[in-house]
Amino acid sequence: MSKILITGAFGQIGSELVPALQQKYGADNVVAVGHSAVPTDFAGISERVDISNVASLQELIKKYSIDTIYHLASFLSAKCERDPDLAWQVNMGGLKIILDLARDNKLKLFWPSSIGAFGPTTPKINTPQHTIMEPTTMYGVTKMAGELLCQYYFLKYGVDVRSVRYPGIINYKTEPSDGTTEYSIAMFYEGLRKGSYECFLKEDTALPMMYIEDAVRGTIELMNASSDKLTVHTSYNLAAISFTPSELVMELKKYLPNFTCTYKPDFRQAIADSWPKTIDDAKAREDWGWHHKYDLARITEFMFKNLSAKFLAK
Ligand code: SER
Repeated sequence: MSKILITGAFGQIGSELVPALQQKYGADNVVAVGHSAVPTDFAGISERVDISNVASLQELIKKYSIDTIYHLASFLSAKCERDPDLAWQVNMGGLKIILDLARDNKLKLFWPSSIGAFGPTTPKINTPQHTIMEPTTMYGVTKMAGELLCQYYFLKYGVDVRSVRYPGIINYKTEPSDGTTEYSIAMFYEGLRKGSYECFLKEDTALPMMYIEDAVRGTIELMNASSDKLTVHTSYNLAAISFTPSELVMELKKYLPNFTCTYKPDFRQAIADSWPKTIDDAKAREDWGWHHKYDLARITEFMFKNLSAKFLAK
């Protein structure tokens, strides 16, 4: 039986991964760790710990007999550019602490990388699993270095650490956070709230994207895959769909016919321009059977339905 600890439990991915893990393993076997206030509607075991506090984390591992960690606490791309020093401290410092705890306590570990690990010299179309990786953002630098550190802990200490390079994740439970692909989430929020949105990327900026349910299911499937099947120990390419802001506008207009979008690119355009447009995830498909279920039409339908219900409930 898995005893799981999740850091960043109330963030973009955690807020959906935690309930999925609770359902699969039982609420008593999932410890949700965040650094700020626990959401009022959260049901389950929660702990408030700063990720740099090694002693407190070690205590939690002992207290709950933890055998698996999902380490999700990290800054997204735009936030990393706003404060690169803090980004290094949180993203890399946090990962190093968790890797050491995983090694010393013999824990299984999941850590998220991202399409942000790629850079302007990476082939942009069908980006291969193994290719040039020269990220030019601090977010990308922490993801690239993090992948290598994970592989090092696997090779040197035998830590069972697993990772995927998430594309932009589209979710509705948390407000859009300070990333680059998060324009897509903001478009749904603003569309429903105001009927209009000012996009910080150009209308023809294609980026790899995925619905949260696919991301959560894929993450759990990777963690349950048999270790002898896994051939990638840095991080697996993971893909679903790719679209541009103007393609998303067209879909959203099917639900909000009067919706309007204007474009005012800012510093996040350069971040997006340094990332791939489409990803080749054949290795994940071969090694552990990854497949996505949500296309753009379905994502739009579910986002619209779920966000409308969320706004109505308030
Ligand atoms: N969603 C992330 C970002 O834009 C990409 O991994 O920062």
